[in-house]
Amino acid sequence: MEIFGARIWVTGASTGIGAALATELADRGARVAISARNAEQLAEVAGGRMAVVPLDVTDRAATVAAGERVREALGGLDVAVLNAGTWSSFHVEPWDSQLFADHLQVNVMGAVHTMEAVVPQMLAAGRGRVVGVASVAGYRGLPGSEAYNAGKAALINLLEGLRGSLAPRGVVVQIINPGFVTTRLTDRNTCPMPFKVEADVAARTIADGIARDKAEVVFPVPMMVAMKLARLLPVRAWTRLTAELARRGVHGGQTRRAG
Ligand SMILES: NC(=O)c1ccc[n+]([C@@H]2O[C@H](COP(=O)([O-])OP(=O)(O)OC[C@H]3O[C@@H](n4cnc5c(N)ncnc54)[C@H](OP(=O)(O)O)[C@@H]3O)[C@@H](O)[C@H]2O)c1
Repeated sequence: MEIFGARIWVTGASTGIGAALATELADRGARVAISARNAEQLAEVAGGRMAVVPLDVTDRAATVAAGERVREALGGLDVAVLNAGTWSSFHVEPWDSQLFADHLQVNVMGAVHTMEAVVPQMLAAGRGRVVGVASVAGYRGLPGSEAYNAGKAALINLLEGLRGSLAPRGVVVQIINPGFVTTRLTDRNTCPMPFKVEADVAARTIADGIARDKAEVVFPVPMMVAMKLARLLPVRAWTRLTAELARRGVHGGQTRRAG
């Protein structure tokens, strides 16, 4: 698709990948609207050249209303990038069901609410594009990151199903699965983060993937290879590997240091 002149809404754009992507898309000539909860940070990212629509994606009614505001501001909508997300580590003791609920509210239901805000109009128009930012973390379960990985696995599955449902109606679904990217989210993470890339590199890769109509954008390449191979590893071998990592204190979420 042609990015220049496209009307694009990016959620989770106050910081990190979303902020870098909104900037990259605006630099390529897109008309961009950005959302997140922090209005001040959004205004900074916008720099006067993007529409700013503050939003908490866990609020269904507010998200649907925000979709309307975005269409008004941009004069319609061609692409919605569902990027808002959160991460924190999970511990089995004490068990924390609320942490799961919070993750699923943002990482799954937040995306679902944003879809509700854009898909009906795209179906009515017979055209449009939904770009979901999931993660390679959704490919397999990892100790210490159960709440995040489960939500991202659900999001990948949801987007894959939706792709089939919407394709015959002219609406394209693209899935973005980043590896580690330097952002506020990974700043909280003390586990080893192989092949980590900067947010502006991630933004360029995602913008290129959107422009090239790629069904799935996975990066960086070494992480893609590692995680696609991990998906092929038999359950017994994956269990042995992850149990060993957990024993050594290396979790998907953090490294437990001795002492
Ligand atoms: N960094 C990585 O290594 C990595 C890897 C794979 C996938 N991802 C995914 O990439 C996306 C962006 O993450 P990031 O790394 O750029 O982290 P980030 O810098 O923390 O950005 C997260 C964004 O989501 C927004 N957000 C969080 N909760 C929200 C809510 N309830 N309503 C609306 N906006 C909300 C945040 O803004 P406010 O706080 O202002 O609301 C922020 O703009 C996430 O979906 C994440 O899972 C990241």
